[in-house]
Amino acid sequence: MSGIELIPSAKRMIMSLRDLGYDFSQAVADIIDNSIAAHASEIDINVEFDGDDSWVSIADNGDGMTDKRLREALRYGSEREYEKSDLGKFGLGLKTASLSQCQRLSVASRNNANGGSVSAYTWDLDHITKNNRWEILPLTGKHLLPQLRDPLHGKTGTVVFWQRLDRILGYRHPYGALAKKRLLQMCREVELHLAMVFHQFLSGNVRRKRLKIRLNGNVIRPWDPFCQSERKTRRLSVETFQIEHEGNKGIVRFEPFILPTQNEFSTPDAFRNASGPMGWNQQQGFYFYRAERMIQSGGWSKLRAPDEHTKYARIAVHFPPALDDAFKINVAKMRVQLPAEIRDLIEEKISAIAKQARAAYDRKESGNGAHPHTDASSDTHAKNSKHHSASQKMSRLLTLQEWADITLGVARGSEKKVIKAVIKRII
Ligand SMILES: Nc1ncnc2c1ncn2[C@@H]1O[C@H](COP(=O)(O)OP(=O)(O)OP(=O)(O)O)[C@@H](O)[C@H]1O
Ligand SMILES: [Mg+2]
Repeated sequence: MSGIELIPSAKRMIMSLRDLGYDFSQAVADIIDNSIAAHASEIDINVEFDGDDSWVSIADNGDGMTDKRLREALRYGSEREYEKSDLGKFGLGLKTASLSQCQRLSVASRNNANGGSVSAYTWDLDHITKNNRWEILPLTGKHLLPQLRDPLHGKTGTVVFWQRLDRILGYRHPYGALAKKRLLQMCREVELHLAMVFHQFLSGNVRRKRLKIRLNGNVIRPWDPFCQSERKTRRLSVETFQIEHEGNKGIVRFEPFILPTQNEFSTPDAFRNASGPMGWNQQQGFYFYRAERMIQSGGWSKLRAPDEHTKYARIAVHFPPALDDAFKINVAKMRVQLPAEIRDLIEEKISAIAKQARAAYDRKESGNGAHPHTDASSDTHAKNSKHHSASQKMSRLLTLQEWADITLGVARGSEKKVIKAVIKRII
């Protein structure tokens, strides 16, 4: 039986796909994923404020694309072979991330440093709305603007260029000082976001993928959530789990850290910097990495709630793209879920880590105030101080989670099972 092809309405589909949930920083990060996949070592992001003519460009020195490849790259659902640790997956990011922020996306590319011309095309939402066709426009002659052409002079690479930044500027006539201030603020957010999600690449930890990113000429420094250069950071033992999900196998690696407390940091600045984009309390918990690129930072994936007392616990969770389905990764690659297969396995370990973080907090933070403690940098002291800090807390109302942690902390093997069952019934 022969089928009947129904081509989606270009106008309606492209407009709907603008709303996958990216913000400016996440959209830029998705473009940089592509540059990394194309073996780029340097990326220049430029943001120019000029009212309605404001623009953003992201230029890399990667492999670049032939004219044919570039046209395929611009197709929604473009096809190519993915490597095992590839950052790409859906064939959408270049288009969906870009057009979530702007109304005109142009891409120029060159894959031969010694010859060959620059190829360039544009997706223009005005053109789509008018014609309702899946049509890109070739850019040649005066339409190939210097911002697209110049970065590719004598080298391979790709330039992604955004114009008509309706979603970024959010003003009908974005000329005022307020619009400019907003854009500057957003640039600062982009910088923090990229410093975080690509920190492994920026610090050269990923083999053959060392990366330098400049934003308006300034080099972005990596932000390591685990403060591994701080002397008092404690790295706890690494755990690995082999999991299989719908026929796909992969290894998940947990690397827990207890960060130094406020007065253990080398400097007050280092402590402030370590707090991260959302502050200490929200930045505790899991940091999910897919092929070394951070997807989600902070939070306990519903295993526990953020709590001032456990704010020094941060855990890296590494998973390979083979486990994408298990982690339910979304198109914008900014959210994952902890697979059911490992939730149960790690629950107890997470409680133990949180307990250590709490002990560190109690020793140092409350040590500054009404309940001074003597030096407590050893784990032995942590154990001894456990009962002490528990009884200290009894002087105020405990949350159920706190009560559960304290009770499980002092319970013996067989008692733990009973307590857990009771807690489960209450929650
Ligand atoms: N900077 C770049 N350099 C070289 N090739 C690129 C670049 N950006 C995109 N491409 C090509 O365009 C294709 C489409 O990119 P796009 O981001 O839309 O999808 P993807 O990366 O394959 O998957 P995902 O939707 O998960 O990002 C890529 O697969 C790649 O072949
Ligand atoms: Mg991509």
